[in-house]
Amino acid sequence: MKLFEKIRLGNMDIQNRIMFPPMQKRRRDHYYINPKDCKDFYVNLAKGGTGIIVVEMTFINHTLPLLLGMFDDQHIIEYKNMIDEMHEKSKVKVFIQLEDALPGLCYVDEAPEDMMELFYQNFMSASVRAKKTGADGIELHGACSNLSKRMSLVKRILTGMREICGKNYPIGIRIDASEFIFNETTMNRTIDIIHELSKEKIAYISLSGGKSVKKEERVYFTESIKKITAEYNVQIISTDNASKYQLAESKLQCFDSDIVEICRAILCDPEWPLKTKEGRFDEIKKCAYCNRCMDSPIKRKPTTCRK
Ligand SMILES: Cc1cc2nc3c(=O)[nH]c(=O)nc-3n(C[C@H](O)[C@H](O)[C@H](O)COP(=O)(O)O)c2cc1C
Ligand code: SF4
Repeated sequence: MKLFEKIRLGNMDIQNRIMFPPMQKRRRDHYYINPKDCKDFYVNLAKGGTGIIVVEMTFINHTLPLLLGMFDDQHIIEYKNMIDEMHEKSKVKVFIQLEDALPGLCYVDEAPEDMMELFYQNFMSASVRAKKTGADGIELHGACSNLSKRMSLVKRILTGMREICGKNYPIGIRIDASEFIFNETTMNRTIDIIHELSKEKIAYISLSGGKSVKKEERVYFTESIKKITAEYNVQIISTDNASKYQLAESKLQCFDSDIVEICRAILCDPEWPLKTKEGRFDEIKKCAYCNRCMDSPIKRKPTTCRK
C-alpha cells in the first residue's frame, strides 16, 4: 500500500501519505475563536493515524471575526498547547494554514501600495508566530483565487517566509486547479502557476481536482506536472472525494500525486487511516458526501459530521 509508505516532505519524514486539509471548525460569539475550542477535535484526529494535519484557515489580521487568528503574540501559546498535545499523542506532523482576512489573496492586486505592504508585513509576523507554536510547517492559502494575476506578491511572501522561518522550514501552498474561476484559471495557466511556484523551493503544492473538468483531465493527472516535479523537489498533493482506499491509492500509483488529501471522509471517521491500514474496511463510518457539514461554518455551528 503506497498510501502507508513514508514520504519525505521538506526536512521531515511523514508516516504515511494522508493529509487532512484545512477545514473550518467553529464560530463562536467572541472576536476570534481560540484553538482550545478545537483542541479535542484535532487531538482526536491525530490519534486516528493521519500523516499530516493542516490546521484550518488562520488569519494574519483581525478584519474578520469568529475565525482563528495568528495576529497577536497571545495566539502562540494557545496554538502551542494544542500542537504539543497532538505531537505527544501521535506521530502526526502539523501545518497551519495562513490566510489574510481582507483584501484577501483573491483581490489584493487591486489594493493600494501601502495596504499591500501591510499585508506583506502581517504575513511575516504571523509566520514567525506560527513557527513558534511548534507547528512543523506553514501552508499559504492561495485557493479561491487566480494566482497568475498576483504572482509577484505571492513570490515575495514565499521568499519572505523562507528568510524569516529558515530555508529548511517547510512551506506549502494551496491553489485551485482548473476551476475556471472568473473564467480565467485554465489548465495551461494552472500548469504555468505550478511551474512558477516550484521555483520558489516550497515543500508542496496542494491542488484541488478542478470542478469544471472531467476526472481524467484533472491537473495532477497530466504529464506536464510530472515533468515539473521531476525538475524541482516539490510534492504534489491532490484533493477531492478520495473516500475509498482504492481511489486514494490509485492517485498515488497511477498519477503524479505524492500525498492525498482526505477531508470529509476523515471528518466522518477520524480513524479512517488506522482502519484502512489494518484492512478493517467494514468498520469505517462512510461519508455520504451529503455536504451537511459544509453548512456548519455558515450557520456558526461547530463543524461535525451531521449525517
Ligand atoms: C466544513 C468545511 C470547511 C472547510 N474549510 C476550509 C478551509 O478553512 N480552508 C481550505 O483551504 N479549505 C477548506 N475546506 C475544503 C477542504 O479542505 C477540501 O478541499 C474539500 O472538502 C474537498 O476534499 P474532500 O472531498 O476530501 O472532502 C473546507 C471543507 C469543509 C467540508
Ligand atoms: S456531513 Fe455528510 S459530507 Fe459531511 S462528513 Fe458527514 S457524511 Fe460526509
